[in-house]
Amino acid sequence: MPVIQIAPSILACDFARLGEQVVATAEAGASLIHVDVMDGRFVPNISIGLPIVQSLRPLADQYNLTLDVHLMIVEPERYLEAFATAGADILTVHVETCPHLHRTIQQIKELGVKAGVALNPATSPTLLEEILPEVDLVVVMSVNPGFGGQKYIPASTNKIRRLRQMLHVTRSAALLEVDGGVKVENAAEIGRAGADILVAGSALFHGDIAANFKSLSLSANNQ
Ligand code: DX5
Ligand code: ZN
Repeated sequence: MPVIQIAPSILACDFARLGEQVVATAEAGASLIHVDVMDGRFVPNISIGLPIVQSLRPLADQYNLTLDVHLMIVEPERYLEAFATAGADILTVHVETCPHLHRTIQQIKELGVKAGVALNPATSPTLLEEILPEVDLVVVMSVNPGFGGQKYIPASTNKIRRLRQMLHVTRSAALLEVDGGVKVENAAEIGRAGADILVAGSALFHGDIAANFKSLSLSANNQ
């Protein structure tokens, strides 16, 4: 059982074959599915939302998958309940969209869902210092959010190291997820920097899903 997990980002899948491709990732060893929700306001793109989470829920139960929902939307507090009802296991909000982050994190937890916080490449980890003990997941964006298939921003590796250290100091049990531009070539570096979960979209769904999953997982776990 690998220690560092690969979370398939369905943004890169063929939506006409969504169920089939999610099952392929589960059979390859995935235990999380990363769902990218974009509103065309916080990020310059519109993607998917509640109906997809709802459709994936039975499949997630059948294959024991955690639905990791990444909300790239303004005013996320307006939709937390709906996403929890649709079947999200983890709801991640962006620190840049939450002036009352503590309240928003409590709202997520009160819904019985795990709470995550994401930060953009230009956002300092120090903004999370006070909230780290309260969250279940920290997502380091290693690309500017909005699109799949972008190039990993090299400075992200140092940010992952800093956050790993901050999690240690604040005694937070939150998992550290890295999202954007993950490839076989950089997965080992990201894993060594302290990530627990690597999101992979284009590197996983373009081509042979099972083979890609295996290579990413081996690289992330540095074997
Ligand atoms: C970017 C999304 C990512 C993205 C990852 O806004 O949050 O999850 O889909 O895709 P790749 O792995 O192709 O960079
Ligand atoms: Zn994402």
